[in-house]
Amino acid sequence: MNPDLTKQLKQQVGLAAAQRVTSGMVVGLGTGSTAAFAIAELGRRLGTGELQNIRGIPTSFQASVLAKKHGVPLMTLDDLGDTEEIHVAIDGADEVDPVKNLIKGGGAAHTREKVVDSLAREFIVVVDSSKLVEKLGSTFPVPLEVLPMAVTPVTRAVKALGGEPELRMGVKKDGPVITDQGNMVLDVKFADIPDPAGLEKTLNNLPGVVENGLFVGVAHTILVGEVVAGVPQVREIL
Ligand code: A5P
Repeated sequence: MNPDLTKQLKQQVGLAAAQRVTSGMVVGLGTGSTAAFAIAELGRRLGTGELQNIRGIPTSFQASVLAKKHGVPLMTLDDLGDTEEIHVAIDGADEVDPVKNLIKGGGAAHTREKVVDSLAREFIVVVDSSKLVEKLGSTFPVPLEVLPMAVTPVTRAVKALGGEPELRMGVKKDGPVITDQGNMVLDVKFADIPDPAGLEKTLNNLPGVVENGLFVGVAHTILVGEVVAGVPQVREIL
């Protein structure tokens, strides 16, 4: 897909998700280029007065910067107290399988994303059609956020599980990617993921792994930007 068309699809799907937010909602703000369009649209709707009194809970430093830029008020999970809820979370994904399981973490934000997205009453995933796969792991490795002091033993352990780990390196920064929490990321390629739920648990059980990018049973709604008969449109997978 050409990059301009991909961008257009991401924008359409981000806007479509932001249109579902109503006044008074608490909104989980996702990370990545698609969620960024949703955050911008929330800000635009707040600016016109069409939307009032929403508060966002960011899933990353990037999401909080964008929220501030677009005038979306922020809150923390602590502010929710015992009774308030996240009404909706809007977030992208790197892969989506036919039963709405996901791989996330292309932006190294999957740890906070999993916390926020899994707390939402409705988690809306926003993707372009290139993210739809028959089987998780077919186009994208599973990212693991790992404590820096545990990178070597976790590397060894994931190899023993049949994975091929690679330490994620920075772009325009020498050395490894450092997450918002100060950890490192191992991208692990698996030849096959027959049991995503089992693998999610197994990976998180390795000492030193903070969180992995398999999101099993978390997403409720998938919005897909796709081209049908030459026309870009948004399809909902319920
Ligand atoms: C961030 O760590 C990721 O989970 C993103 O949500 C995911 O990589 C999707 O990003 P894009 O919307 O930029 O494709």
